[in-house]
Amino acid sequence: MFQHLDRLSPDAILGLMAQFRADPATQKVDLGVGVFRDLNGNTPILECVRRAEQTVLKAQTTKSYVAAAGRAEFNDAVEELALGASRAAPGARRVRTAQTPGGCGALRVGAELIRAAAPKTTVHVSDPTWGNHISLLGSSGLKLERYPYYDARRRELRFDDMLAHLDRAAPGDVVLVHACCHNPTGADLSMSQWKRLTELLLHRQLTPFLDLAYQGFGSNLEDDAAGIRLVVESVPEALVAVSFSKNLGLYRERAGAIITVSETESRADAAQSHVLQIARSIYSMPPDHGAAIAACIFADPQLRRSWIEELGAMRDRIAGMRSLLASHLRATTKDGTFDFLERQRGMFSLLGVSSEAVEALRARHHIYMLGDSRMNLAGITPGNVAYVAEAIAAEQ
Ligand SMILES: Cc1ncc(COP(=O)(O)O)c(C=O)c1O
Repeated sequence: MFQHLDRLSPDAILGLMAQFRADPATQKVDLGVGVFRDLNGNTPILECVRRAEQTVLKAQTTKSYVAAAGRAEFNDAVEELALGASRAAPGARRVRTAQTPGGCGALRVGAELIRAAAPKTTVHVSDPTWGNHISLLGSSGLKLERYPYYDARRRELRFDDMLAHLDRAAPGDVVLVHACCHNPTGADLSMSQWKRLTELLLHRQLTPFLDLAYQGFGSNLEDDAAGIRLVVESVPEALVAVSFSKNLGLYRERAGAIITVSETESRADAAQSHVLQIARSIYSMPPDHGAAIAACIFADPQLRRSWIEELGAMRDRIAGMRSLLASHLRATTKDGTFDFLERQRGMFSLLGVSSEAVEALRARHHIYMLGDSRMNLAGITPGNVAYVAEAIAAEQ
């Protein structure tokens, strides 16, 4: 059977990680893999997570199954975090949430739900988007199209082109939108743009699929969700994929959730019954440990305060490195070409240089970023920023 399988080329990000590890250079910089890093280059366990984990382990009396929907208290808190205390009214009872294995699990379950409800649906994803969106949504058999989102050369959003594309989409199509800290561009919609997008979704009868993977990495937990809350309270139906990999640093614990928003309470129950059936047929139940930790943090006012502080520190570190790199580049290139880095948000930006320049940065300077020039700003430190800025100025 396996003789029919050709060997696939390695995943671009995993391949780059392996190349970085194998590079013997003493001065090397990893701007590739999408994890937060502190000033020492470590991806730390948050203090609130350490404390919650102790509590969870002490209280645990069984390893018996939880449920296909995971922990009810986790789901409840996630709904409130993502959609706000009003749960994006009107008719808040039209919202249902199921815990999933990370944001990827949520995206995949969401895709399967769309396929179950309307197999001919086209899902429109941003150009560019996070590479895994294509595999997670595409492997469910749904048709994908790309809407223009960002011009990497000009380093600006293509919002009018985005609306023009979506204005031609068929009624019932789905639009995947990054909630904040767009991956890979770091370029987000302003509130007035969210408003115009919402009007278009309503007018063209398009269903939003909102990907919330970096809540708190842009401005704060509330403001980063303001765009998706506006959408959810305005449209009849929506999907939200939530991930706690980054904002709780729970990457390997796989904590996430899929939220469905339906027109009525009974439709919400029907949609949720499909979500649970889909989960059952793929992985049966989500892993418990990460969600138990997250639920403990959400419920305990002290742990929650500590989380908000630690999240703020991660956000400030990235924003600080954005400013520092932009100012070094301004000084080195004697122009403002790279000032955009300071204005964008979250871990990623597209440097906007050619693939040859990306290759030269890797081969000559041992600076690793993805082929489309996506860089993880959390890989920058005060110790390497001058080196990186000079290399970019030399190869741009
Ligand atoms: C845009 C986006 N969505 C979703 C995810 C899901 O992450 P995870 O499955 O690790 O929670 C990521 C992670 O990198 C992401 O960048």
